[in-house]
Amino acid sequence: MEISIFGLGYVGCVSLGCLAKNGHQVIGVDVHQQKVDLINKGLPTIVEKDIDTIIAEEFKNGKIRATNDAKDAVSNSEISIICVGTPSSKRGNLNLDFIYKVAEQIGTALKNKNTFHSVVIRSTVLPGTNEKVGEIIAEYSGKKRNQDFSVVSNPEFLREGTAVKDYYHPSITVLGGDSEIALEKVAALYKELPAPIEIVDIRVAEVIKYVNNSFHAVKVTFANEVGNISKALGIDSHKVMELFCKDTHLNISPTYFKPGFAYGGSCLPKDLSGMVTLGKDNFINIPMLSHIDASNENQKKIAYDLIAAQKFKKIAFLGLAFKEGTDDLRYSPSVDLAEKLLGKGYSLKIYDKNVHISKLIGSNKSYIDEVLPHLSILITDNLGEAIEHADIVVLNHRNLDLENYLDALSKKKAVIDLVRVKTTEQLPNYIGLNW
Ligand SMILES: NC(=O)c1ccc[n+]([C@@H]2O[C@H](COP(=O)([O-])OP(=O)(O)OC[C@H]3O[C@@H](n4cnc5c(N)ncnc54)[C@H](O)[C@@H]3O)[C@@H](O)[C@H]2O)c1
Repeated sequence: MEISIFGLGYVGCVSLGCLAKNGHQVIGVDVHQQKVDLINKGLPTIVEKDIDTIIAEEFKNGKIRATNDAKDAVSNSEISIICVGTPSSKRGNLNLDFIYKVAEQIGTALKNKNTFHSVVIRSTVLPGTNEKVGEIIAEYSGKKRNQDFSVVSNPEFLREGTAVKDYYHPSITVLGGDSEIALEKVAALYKELPAPIEIVDIRVAEVIKYVNNSFHAVKVTFANEVGNISKALGIDSHKVMELFCKDTHLNISPTYFKPGFAYGGSCLPKDLSGMVTLGKDNFINIPMLSHIDASNENQKKIAYDLIAAQKFKKIAFLGLAFKEGTDDLRYSPSVDLAEKLLGKGYSLKIYDKNVHISKLIGSNKSYIDEVLPHLSILITDNLGEAIEHADIVVLNHRNLDLENYLDALSKKKAVIDLVRVKTTEQLPNYIGLNW
């Protein structure tokens, strides 16, 4: 294919070389004449393992050239890939000026082009940018999105230092778009790569890179805070993290990675608090670990605010234990939420198929006697009765067997789901906590 690449920095230069190596004819565009000249001499614009050889070979093969003329690049290609910088502004928010400038240039160049053009956003951009880029191109070209051109979001995941290797071995290729033709064309660019191509909603494609990099920052910070505490205790932090990574069931795995309600139970809050105490007792500053609890409390507030916003006071509260499949009520976030609602004058009917007042014993019973002393009046073992009572139904567990109650649920003022119960998602009055 004939491809133009806007921006010849780290991402653009690697894409230029690697796409040419995969057989495409590629034109690079940059506002810096020096970068254009380098490519036109068969030299890379960046220092990166293997890219010098690739650029030199593909230049020799006649597969790459560069220009500062956007019109030349657009009219001689069917796909334009945007790889310009998206730096932070002085105030810390993202500056998308370069992206919008390129959209104007592509739009202007498309004015006199009569074939369908696919525009790919490879730079890291905020959700909504794809749409705005489409509007700018339409305005400057006088052409119609998805009729004359299309915009596909295709975030880049490579890392400097291993950029060529990462280009050829991504974990996934993500594409977000609203034109089948353009999506197929862009997918074809990556067909040689040994990675699945995930076609997703445009905004999912736009946000994923921020999510990935935020998590990478969390990983580094987590390991550092564990290291700082471990060192203070004379423990080998690398051994600790080596063991940590060996648990691929609970630690390095998809477990717990589902947006939803707060965590609770008798272990997570207690042991996180123990870890934070270890830091404090040893005068170690651990900002991330010590703010996790505040974030968890905030999740309870978000759930409460969502319920309060409905302005109805009769609630069916389905699921009370800290997670399904247990009757353990200790430090259950659902108990906290129920307590807050009761304190604010809500009328609750609580149903939890594993919680039977007469069977609660030991610390479980003492905990609930202290936190929700009137539970015996509020709880029912009849799911239908709980739903019948309510204006608002709050779902705290997934294993609720609601199939026979969907009609009754649909007549409620709202069904508020804190855990994503798939069977209820299609209800007209359904509200998910954070999805
Ligand atoms: N560097 C990385 O490791 C990496 C990895 C993944 C994603 N990204 C993202 O990719 C994007 C590009 O990053 P980068 O590190 O390659 O940036 P960079 O600063 O190295 O290169 C950007 C290039 O765009 C050029 N440019 C600016 N305006 C232009 C215009 N109107 N027309 C043509 N060229 C123009 C600049 O001159 C520069 O050469 C950013 O959004 C970044 O967040 C970067």
